Amino acid sequence: MTTAPARHLVELGPTDLAARVDEALAVYVAAMGYPPSTARHRRTLWLDHVRRPGWRAVGWLDDADRLLGVAYGYSGAPGQWWYEEVARGLRRRPADRIWLEDYFELTELHVRPDAQGGGLGEGLLRALLAGAAARRVLLSTPEHGDGPVNRAWTLYRRTGFSDVLRQHRFTGDARPFAVLGRELPLPAPPTPAPPG
Ligand SMILES: CC(C)(COP(=O)(O)OP(=O)(O)OC[C@H]1O[C@@H](n2cnc3c(N)ncnc32)[C@H](O)[C@@H]1OP(=O)(O)O)[C@@H](O)C(=O)NCCC(=O)NCCS
Repeated sequence: MTTAPARHLVELGPTDLAARVDEALAVYVAAMGYPPSTARHRRTLWLDHVRRPGWRAVGWLDDADRLLGVAYGYSGAPGQWWYEEVARGLRRRPADRIWLEDYFELTELHVRPDAQGGGLGEGLLRALLAGAAARRVLLSTPEHGDGPVNRAWTLYRRTGFSDVLRQHRFTGDARPFAVLGRELPLPAPPTPAPPG
C-alpha cells in the first residue's frame, strides 16, 4: 500500500513570508521556469507587498517543513501599478470597469513542479480566497497561445474565472497576458459521486 506524502496547508503572516521569501521565490522560479536571477528582482517587490492592505498568503509545507507551494494577494486599489495597467486595458470598456471596484488581486500562485498535478494549487487558491474580503478576485496569467491550455488555465476555468482582458500587454513585458476574474465567494468544490 502506498501512503500519500504528509503535507499541510498553512496561513503565512508577513513575518513568515519574510522568513521564507527565498524559499518562496525558489518555488516561483521553478514553477514558472524562469532563470534564477528573476528571484533577485522579485524579492524587494514581494517584501514590499506584505505591507499592502488586505495582504494574505498561504502555503503548503511537507513533513520536513519545506515549502511546496505558495500564493498571496492583496486588495487592489487605484495608484497600484497593476490596477493602473488593467484600467488602461479597460479604458474603452467603461461598463467593465466594475471589475476594478472592490477586488482582491491574486498576485502569485505557484506549486513546485515535482508537487504539481495533485490539487495543491486548487487548495492554495481556495484557502487564499476564502479569507479575501472583497466582492471580486482578479489575476493575470500568460496567454497559453495555440497550444493546449496549461494547468493554471485549467485551474482558473475549473474554478469559474472568466475573461476580463485577453492579449493584454503589461508595460515592460513583451508577452501577451490574460486578465481573469470572478465574483467571490468561491462556491464549495463539487462533492465526488459515491461509488457504485
Ligand atoms: C498553476 C498551478 C499553481 C496549479 O497547481 P497544481 O497543484 O499543479 O494544479 P491543481 O490544483 O489544479 O491540481 C492539478 C490536478 O489535480 C487534480 N486535483 C484537484 N483536487 C485534487 C485533490 N483534492 N486530490 C487530488 N487531485 C486533485 C485536478 O483535477 C488536476 O488534475 P489535472 O491537472 O490532471 O487536470 C501549478 O501548476 C503551477 O505552479 N504552475 C506553474 C506556475 C503558474 O503557472 N502559476 C500561475 C501563474 S498565473
